[in-house]
Formats: sequence, structure tokens, C-alpha cells
Amino acid sequence: MGTEVVVEGLTKSFGRKPVWRDITLTLPAGEVSVLLGPSGTGKTVFLKSLVGLVRPERGHVYVDGTDIVTASERELYAARRLFGVMFQDGALFGSMSLYDNIAFPLREHTKLKERQIHDIVVDKMRLVGLAGEEAKFPGQISGGMRKRAGLARALVLDPQIILCDEPDSGLDPVRTAYLSQLLIDLNAEIDATILIVTHNIQIASTVPDNIGMLFRGDLVGFGPRELLLTSDQPVVSQFLAGRRIGPIGMAEEKDLATMESEQAHIDAGHHDGGSGLDHGRIVPQLEPTPGLPPRRAVRRRTDRVMSIMHTLPPAARQAILENFTPAERARYEAGLGAGR
Ligand SMILES: Nc1ncnc2c1ncn2[C@@H]1O[C@H](COP(=O)(O)OP(=O)(O)OP(=O)(O)O)[C@@H](O)[C@H]1O
Ligand SMILES: [Mg+2]
Repeated sequence: MGTEVVVEGLTKSFGRKPVWRDITLTLPAGEVSVLLGPSGTGKTVFLKSLVGLVRPERGHVYVDGTDIVTASERELYAARRLFGVMFQDGALFGSMSLYDNIAFPLREHTKLKERQIHDIVVDKMRLVGLAGEEAKFPGQISGGMRKRAGLARALVLDPQIILCDEPDSGLDPVRTAYLSQLLIDLNAEIDATILIVTHNIQIASTVPDNIGMLFRGDLVGFGPRELLLTSDQPVVSQFLAGRRIGPIGMAEEKDLATMESEQAHIDAGHHDGGSGLDHGRIVPQLEPTPGLPPRRAVRRRTDRVMSIMHTLPPAARQAILENFTPAERARYEAGLGAGR
């Protein structure tokens, strides 16, 4: 089963420039979570903090009994074995073939024979659609292929926690859809805890169990997907709808006067070019491909969501209820009865 990641009061600055402060959230074991946020809000820095590549000034990241923030190099080396990380830029070695890149963690962290390494590498390359490309070098393939090679490399050690930094960047919409399905299938097969950093609304609305968003150095909520997808917080709805009008600007966050004048423009009936994810209507979450085992996290997640239902706003509650199966609904109502 996947391992939960507990983040408590995490704060990071570079020099005098704060990135984010006091971030607290738990990635539930075996569930898929998405972290959204405008460019430059520190999503990559957050992922790097989870694996100890960046050391925050304050706070904790507990993984399987280790606090990544204060761990020694030796403890970190052991803890990193639990993680598979797909970096934003692929982070492949330019001088190695794809095969050697993907085999690298196995040669580094295991004593497997080349024969066994071969089988694992070929299997993972097939999984991400790179079969037959073993001999190519990173400089000879497309950006999307490099991303998929990065994912294959993240998977070779059978990680319990998978972190993907913008897995969709450089992928066309069709491949993004395949990738979304691949992540759900992976989750069904290995029950790993997954965190995906993305700007992609298609991924955010169809893949995760949980969604969080970083903005202006804070975590703007983290919770069941229905919570963020029905949120009426301006920054969340602007982001999800891809609108220009709202707190998020091109270069930096906007000031209040600009926002008010933009809103007046919209109120006067002008269109702002948003893509318009239909607010309040939640698209169903992807299911594993038929033939795969069901996702083990689903039952745990449903129980957890039921236990926090009373803390959620009405729109989120309604969206969750609408997505319950009849059996889940009965279980929820029985729970309510028992609580009275
Ligand atoms: N090693 C570093 N030294 C100094 N500043 C850094 C370092 N790494 C990141 N930063 C700064 O921290 C901030 C957050 O960067 P980060 O890469 O995490 O953003 P992001 O949310 O991942 O953005 P994007 O969506 O564009 O990938 C930026 O202002 C960046 O310049
Ligand atoms: Mg980034």
C-alpha cells in the first residue's frame, strides 16, 4: 500500500524572498492528489522539499517515520527509495541512451543482474509508450517523449510515492488523455500515493481524489476534488475556468484597482476569453481500464470524505453525494443515523 505524506507548517524562502509559508496538508496513502497554482508559486520547490532536494526553514515532512526536513543524508538516501519523481524538465542524462537513463536508478539502488534490469526497463518503457526507443538519446526525441522517459525512470523502483511535476507539459491533448489514464491505471495496479503538479484543467478535473492550490505563498485549500472544483473562491474559479478576470495576472498578482475595473468591463457584458469549465458541474473521475483491479484507495477515501462531510460547504457536499453509488449513499445515511 502507498505511504501517506504528512506536511506540517512547511515554510521556505530563498534569501529574503518567501516562496510559501506554513503549508499543512496530508497526501492520503494510495490516493491521487493534484497541486495547482500559477507559475512561480513554488510548486516545484514544494515537490523538491518532499524528497529533501530543497530544505525548508521550518516545518516537517513525515514519510514512513522519517522527517525529510531534518533527516541526515543517510536517512534521506533510504527514504528516497520510496519515491519516484518525474521532474518538470525530464532531468535525463544527455550522454546516456534512454535505456541507460531508465536503468540508472536500478543500477544505483539495487543489486539486480543486467538481465533482470533489462526486463524491468523494457516493461516500463512499454508502459509509457516508448517500446523500441531504447537506443535513442534524449537529444534525439521530442519533448513529450522525454517526459514519458522521465516517468518510466520514476517507476522502475516500484515507488510507494510518485511525484510528477507537470507531466503534461509538451504533450498534445490526446497524449495528455492517455497519460491521465496511465496514472489512474498505475494507481490501481500498485496503490501508490501520487502527487501531480499541473496547470492542466483536464487532468485536475478527471484524475485526482484530492486537489490543492498554491497562491501568494499560501495553500488555498486542499481537500476532496469536489471541494476545489465547486469552490467560489475567486482565485480558484479563475484558474479552473482559465479566465483573465480575477486575482491572477500575467506577471504577478493584480492589485485591487485593476481587478475592479476588469470586473466592471465584464459586468458591462464583455467576454474575457475564458475556456469556461462549467462551474458546479463536476466531470466524473477516471476509472481504471477494464481488466485492472479496482483502486484500493477508493473505499478508504470514501470513508474519509464521509467523516469530514459536515465540515464541507454545501456545493461540495452536494457534488460528493451526487457521485456516491447507491451503496455508498446507504452507508453514508446509516452513518448519519448512527451519529444521531
Ligand atoms: N534554487 C533556487 N534559488 C533561488 N530561487 C529559487 C530557486 N528555486 C526556485 N526559486 C524561486 O522560487 C519561486 C518558485 O519557483 P518554482 O519553480 O517552485 O515555481 P513553480 O510554481 O513550479 O512555477 P512553474 O509553474 O512555472 O513551474 C520562483 O520565484 C523561483 O524563482
Ligand atoms: Mg514548476
